[in-house]
Amino acid sequence: MEKFVIRGGNPLLGSIRVSGAKNSALPCMAAAILTEDEVILENIPQVRDIETERKLLVSMGAEVELGYGRAQHRTSISCRVLSDPVAKYEIVKTMRASSLVLGPLIARTGLARVAMPGGCAIGGRPIDLHIKGLEAMGANITQEHGYLEARTERLKGAHILFDKITVTGTEDLLMAAVLADGETVMENCAREPEVTDLAAMLVSMGAKIEGAGSSVIRVHGVDKLHGTRHRINPDRIEAGTFLVAGAITGGDLRVTQCNPAHLSSVVAKLQECGVRLDIEGDSIRVRSEGNLRSADISTEEYPGFPTDMQAQYMALATQADGTSVVVENIFENRFMHVQELARMGANIKVDGRTATIRGKSPLSSAAVMCSDLRASASLVLAAMVAEGETILDRVYHIDRGYERIEEKLRSVGAEVRRLGNIFASKPAV
Ligand code: UD1
Repeated sequence: MEKFVIRGGNPLLGSIRVSGAKNSALPCMAAAILTEDEVILENIPQVRDIETERKLLVSMGAEVELGYGRAQHRTSISCRVLSDPVAKYEIVKTMRASSLVLGPLIARTGLARVAMPGGCAIGGRPIDLHIKGLEAMGANITQEHGYLEARTERLKGAHILFDKITVTGTEDLLMAAVLADGETVMENCAREPEVTDLAAMLVSMGAKIEGAGSSVIRVHGVDKLHGTRHRINPDRIEAGTFLVAGAITGGDLRVTQCNPAHLSSVVAKLQECGVRLDIEGDSIRVRSEGNLRSADISTEEYPGFPTDMQAQYMALATQADGTSVVVENIFENRFMHVQELARMGANIKVDGRTATIRGKSPLSSAAVMCSDLRASASLVLAAMVAEGETILDRVYHIDRGYERIEEKLRSVGAEVRRLGNIFASKPAV
């Protein structure tokens, strides 16, 4: 199992480029199911979840070429033939977002079989809202042997009110609605930039969608969608992680090819912590002399502070002057990084969904274990300011969503090595 070895103490200096957003790329790849034509996606990040989605589409009969050319990260997908519209357990169990194929599969073929996602490290994460929405659109859904089976002649437009804001739920039902008969109105939708990115792609395929990016989305179903070429948004969470990396190490870092508009809540919070941030077009320059101040965060749906940045922020809070309170509102059980940060010397108390961090803790190296994607990122950040050499085990978690993070960080001065380099002989997927 690969490990990272990180020696702390270096300020990050220079420029670091942001890759395409994994959480946009996943629904956009699933959207290729909606047409018989070829779909070309650019700026696809070279991460493990994308490879998992490729396997998923191929297992259903699609042709997928991941053309990881240096510049483009271009992928072409052809779902002309979908001989086996089944998302198998072996694949779904490694990536919950596989449930994103449910909506497009039933919309395109009238039949979808998707393994129920298992328990996940960051909470129960049910898909009941996806199911409820599809039922409202006329799908007949049964559950047997760990699989969900959805059938219908053709989906019908419906009025859907999400009980709770769900990102992939909004995306899944949006993909179902674009080929449904009639109008669908969805209320209490997620407003995340990834939903807007998907909607832009669907519109370029001929879908009729209004209101994406707001809480009410209206869709006029069409009979058929055509192929497209679409460029994936920059990854706001990777960008946010690099901003924290610049700040925590007392560096001077330019985070390039990002979309600063998607990072407002993170930028505002870092400014509150005393970090200097300058937006320059599609780059953000982050500077800090190490004199960080504490600040509280409360995770919210977009445009609030993202739950996917909570763990990284917590690493920063361990180095700030004063006490910070972090409230996790989106997922239960998303504090698994706390124990590992504590092993490095952090002073953090957890009570339910609230963590209280007493800052200015000197961190020291330790052997630590990655438990989920963003928790791993927080350990990398902590290790970059810890005294000595930290060994991070199970870095496959970080490879799910960060593209060659050790190479990127090394290029701006971090001392990070991968032991047992899986990327040595083949593309990093
Ligand atoms: C997506 C992101 C993930 C991010 C999360 C919240 C992808 C691939 N993943 O995950 O990185 O952390 O949004 O921003 O885009 N819920 C239900 N029933 C459902 C669906 C969700 O109760 O049917 C609950 C969840 O348990 C959670 C909350 O709604 O408490 C939000 O989850 P959701 O927005 O669906 O997260 P994901 O889309 O899985």
